[in-house]
Amino acid sequence: MGSSEAPASRRAEEWRRQRERQDRAARIAAICFVVAIVAALALFVVYVTGGQTQLEGVLLAVAFGAVGAGLAVWVRRIIGPREVVEERYPMRSPQETRDEFEAAYHDALGEATTTGRRRFLLRLLGGAGASLGLALLVPFRSLGPTPQDEMFTTTWREGVRLADTEGREIQAADISPDEVITVFPADAIDDPSAQAILVGTREGQLEPDALPGATVEGMVCYSKICTHAGCPVGLYRAAAGELLCPCHQSTFDVHRAAAVVSGPAGRGLPQLPIGTDDEGYLIALGDFSEPVGPSFWNLTHDAPGT
Ligand code: FES
Repeated sequence: MGSSEAPASRRAEEWRRQRERQDRAARIAAICFVVAIVAALALFVVYVTGGQTQLEGVLLAVAFGAVGAGLAVWVRRIIGPREVVEERYPMRSPQETRDEFEAAYHDALGEATTTGRRRFLLRLLGGAGASLGLALLVPFRSLGPTPQDEMFTTTWREGVRLADTEGREIQAADISPDEVITVFPADAIDDPSAQAILVGTREGQLEPDALPGATVEGMVCYSKICTHAGCPVGLYRAAAGELLCPCHQSTFDVHRAAAVVSGPAGRGLPQLPIGTDDEGYLIALGDFSEPVGPSFWNLTHDAPGT
């Protein structure tokens, strides 16, 4: 064997080893992408068949982790750092020419392998991306149905009697000045959005011009749901005529349309217009003057039911 054949065979051996390393790395990357596809599809199946939060979290982590691992292997072991060498070949020796031909041959072979491998890995990566995209669509299903009027209306309506938490219907004579009682529609005492507080005031304390709805003999009724964050407004300071929310101390003026006196609430408590029926029972004359509960992004005073 000539002295110039030894480097050529070493180089060929080196190319062979490099190709083996890259093939091995390609297999690892492919396995990672397949794991990502399986995990993402499993996540989709788990979700649509009822869901299990912990399992969904694990599968999502596996899917993203596998994609990341596959990309890392691909970049580090297959693509590798780019080195550009400008070689100056001696053009005299026939042996060198043979070496050159051999090198070109292996380069071409290697390029063909690289191109096929790249296409294969790109397809798997695309499959992993598509599977993850499918899995990421599923949270939209959890958004549920679009709310309709239920954010603006309650079960109060004209003619329904006021009842206490036990379902007992209330007559005007049942409430004394400075007394408060929680009331619901008589036919919906389990409707939390309809809960209201009926307040008895002393003669002349109410300012009728400030009130958007009707009252009965000094009795006025407001939503019991705080307009700040939805706590029940259950404390009444009779001396000051103020309802107090215990959560963040919003205070509402009972005599003036439950306007905010202090605290973080952004608007007063909606009023329930009340009257009496032929038998002397207190009844609602309609729904609340405004939507109840915390203000939200599209709440306006022109909302349905106002
Ligand atoms: S919920 Fe009533 S003040 Fe915050």
